[in-house]
Amino acid sequence: VAIVSDSRVAALYGRTLLEDLRRLGLPAHLISFPRGESHKTRETKARLEDRLARLGFGRDGVIVALGGGVTGDLAGFLAATWHRGVPFIQAPTSLVAMLDASIGGKVAVDHPLAKNLIGAFHSPLAVYADTDSLATLPRREFNGGLAEAVKCGAIAKASLFRLIERHREAILKRDSRAVVRLVLSAADVKATIVSGDEREQGRRKLLNFGHTLGHALEWASGYRLRHGEAVSIGMVLESRLAVREGILQAGVASRIETLLRRLGLPTAVPRGLSAEAVLSAARRDKKARGGSIFFALPEQLGRHAGGPAWVVHVPDRRIRQILTLPDMMP
Ligand SMILES: NC(=O)c1ccc[n+]([C@@H]2O[C@H](COP(=O)([O-])OP(=O)(O)OC[C@H]3O[C@@H](n4cnc5c(N)ncnc54)[C@H](O)[C@@H]3O)[C@@H](O)[C@H]2O)c1
Repeated sequence: VAIVSDSRVAALYGRTLLEDLRRLGLPAHLISFPRGESHKTRETKARLEDRLARLGFGRDGVIVALGGGVTGDLAGFLAATWHRGVPFIQAPTSLVAMLDASIGGKVAVDHPLAKNLIGAFHSPLAVYADTDSLATLPRREFNGGLAEAVKCGAIAKASLFRLIERHREAILKRDSRAVVRLVLSAADVKATIVSGDEREQGRRKLLNFGHTLGHALEWASGYRLRHGEAVSIGMVLESRLAVREGILQAGVASRIETLLRRLGLPTAVPRGLSAEAVLSAARRDKKARGGSIFFALPEQLGRHAGGPAWVVHVPDRRIRQILTLPDMMP
């Protein structure tokens, strides 16, 4: 067994897992890499491969990805190509990884010109999430995961949205019962959606709610906005867009915005970010087709608009209006 972990998670939990596995009589090794998205690269993958080669890691090995989404993506891609593919297990330790990144089999590394440019589809044998490990997760990272959970609730599962509304304080305190319910419910949305559409031809597009403008904001802010923060603002903007397009009731849009704010997530575009910069980033996104921008939008809490196409096209002019509106609900 090769446990792959970033430097922080290896120090926190790597040794314990290593010793537990060895106690079971399994030959196990812990290999780590420096933490952070900037290390989700081909170079890091090559260094991990050098370590596996020196260990004589064979076809009968199993790779365990112990960590956040960066570790899951990197270790999963390592497993996808090592000996043309060995099994791997996801042991997510961040909230984003537990309810999103560890599920669905997409594994990848970044290229300097684009995120997740080089990768594969390689499903884990199993996902084991120990929610107790969230106790040590920094607050900003935890909140990023909450944004993804709100997204799943808003677009695909009203009961999840209501669960977050009702148990918001317990979730923010990381009460273990509340967190387990949250992770199970949100992970179930992701698993259900991707199981019918691994390669994002259809239903998986729903998971892009908040991400079309979110990714653009993340990029236009020079990554000062974290992913979850940008997605939170993206969901607010895209909900307003849905209201303007006559798809969603204004009351539901404001309920989404209120929940995000109460969770401590940003809901307004930071000063200094121009509508044009955000629009042109959205047009360049891989999800835009022929420069046209498509959105996964809710039409009710937990229900998507767009019918069999899953997504809705909105002309640039109307997107620009939303980006330049004063910061209030339409
Ligand atoms: N494959 C997919 O379907 C998918 C989906 C969503 C996101 N992702 C990827 O996931 C990545 C983001 O995931 P992330 O937010 O988990 O990032 P991450 O793996 O960098 O983790 C965030 C930080 O938290 C630390 N950390 C993780 N668990 C901890 C714990 N229990 N205690 C203390 N610190 C802990 C990490 O060391 C890191 O510094 C991105 O690269 C994104 O592309 C992939």
